[in-house]
Amino acid sequence: MEIAIEYLNLYRTALKSAELAYAPYSKFRVGAALLLADGSVVTGVNVENRSFGLTNCAERSAIYAAVSSGVKEFKALAIATPDAEYPVSPCGACRQVISEFMDDSVPVVFGNSEKTLIQTSVSKLFPFDALHELSEH
Ligand code: THU
Repeated sequence: MEIAIEYLNLYRTALKSAELAYAPYSKFRVGAALLLADGSVVTGVNVENRSFGLTNCAERSAIYAAVSSGVKEFKALAIATPDAEYPVSPCGACRQVISEFMDDSVPVVFGNSEKTLIQTSVSKLFPFDALHELSEH
């Protein structure tokens, strides 16, 4: 799959950030990178807990970090799962959170390595999205 250079670079940033993952239980590191309107990037990693259900995925960590710094608009999302043998797409909970802040057409790139990158979109990951009318964003 041919991936635009800006998304490839975003993926490389996600891959680099995966080194910071806190994943002592699963040993499955994940890095996420969000492209902002001004070209800057916000990253996130999975942060696990010995009470397993408290784990926060990399995608949500990145989104929450961005929102915490005042940013709520995103141009693209990249996810790197270097410990997997195939590209791992966002979990269901993350898809819901992604849909809160990203329009249907926003590109999402994910892969365990550059060679297996997949590019999709928010609407493909989360079809039949609903309830946006409950907020005013
Ligand atoms: N994980 C993510 O951070 N993002 C994904 O897209 C898939 C799953 C994390 C959660 C947990 O720390 C580990 O990967 C194994 O599920």
